[in-house]
Amino acid sequence: MKSFMDKFSIEGKVCVITGGAGLLGKRHAQAILTGGGIPALIDISDERLSLAKQEITASMEDATQSDIGTYAVDITDKEAVINLRDLLLRRYGHIDILINNAANNPKMEGNSRNMAAIRFHDFPLEIWNADISVGLTGAFLCSQTFGKVMEDGGGGVILNISSDYGLISPDQRVYRRDGVEEDAQIVKPISYSVVKRAIIGMTKYLATYWAKQGIRVNTLCPASLFNGQDIEFVKKISELIPMGRMSDPDEYICTVLYMISDASSYMTGSAVIVDGGRTSW
Ligand SMILES: NC(=O)c1ccc[n+]([C@@H]2O[C@H](COP(=O)([O-])OP(=O)(O)OC[C@H]3O[C@@H](n4cnc5c(N)ncnc54)[C@H](O)[C@@H]3O)[C@@H](O)[C@H]2O)c1
Repeated sequence: MKSFMDKFSIEGKVCVITGGAGLLGKRHAQAILTGGGIPALIDISDERLSLAKQEITASMEDATQSDIGTYAVDITDKEAVINLRDLLLRRYGHIDILINNAANNPKMEGNSRNMAAIRFHDFPLEIWNADISVGLTGAFLCSQTFGKVMEDGGGGVILNISSDYGLISPDQRVYRRDGVEEDAQIVKPISYSVVKRAIIGMTKYLATYWAKQGIRVNTLCPASLFNGQDIEFVKKISELIPMGRMSDPDEYICTVLYMISDASSYMTGSAVIVDGGRTSW
């Protein structure tokens, strides 16, 4: 009989992570390596991927660069996703787990083109389309392409990454700056809320669609990751969180391993919220 800890093993499983070179994507790779799986990081540039690979191996005692596959693929390009599927199947013969993680994620600490002073009435259609394209169309194409491989192979797991903003509206007060004109105040864009909410709908649709084929589909809603934001922002957002602090990006690794392994064998269609209690207020 399998011991309960053995259920966390994903030994030898090929796990595709979209947006694998980003802040959370690298942590998902750590979860996969911890469980004995083979992470396949998908991102838009070889440079980002190679840096991510170095960071992941530096952060894990046992991991070597050869344990991690990196693939520069734009997930909004159907043909590129299909080519990637063929490449992975030639290399490994199977694809077992997909983490739909990539999204245009406007941040306070980064230089994202979205985290700008663009009020809703001026929000450009081009940004709307680009955000929907990465966060939703990309997840749709990857689920369709890799989900079919899982279906043919007798099962698999898809984990969709949403956010607390898939459940609640962003409290725009945390992004405000004193002494800045109203029109120049930064806001979290509408497209982010829409993408993060819709991915929960995609989860529920696919969970029921594939339930009898052994493919489990769930959502993780992370929240408020600390990544060097300024003190004023950290203080304001922490006041909205019952636990009174932002999360450490490492605090999702164990939940991800739980959700992609047999440890969560009866879970499908669920949204797991890891938010320090923020959505409880
Ligand atoms: N950081 C947070 O505070 C936070 C909070 C809640 C939820 N999330 C969610 O977690 C996920 C990851 O967030 P993150 O903070 O790591 O973001 P990130 O911006 O650090 O990483 C996203 C990655 O996606 C890649 N990407 C963008 N377009 C792509 C495309 N067309 N094809 C392939 N890759 C593409 C980017 O290059 C980037 O490396 C997102 O879905 C985000 O909404 C993040």
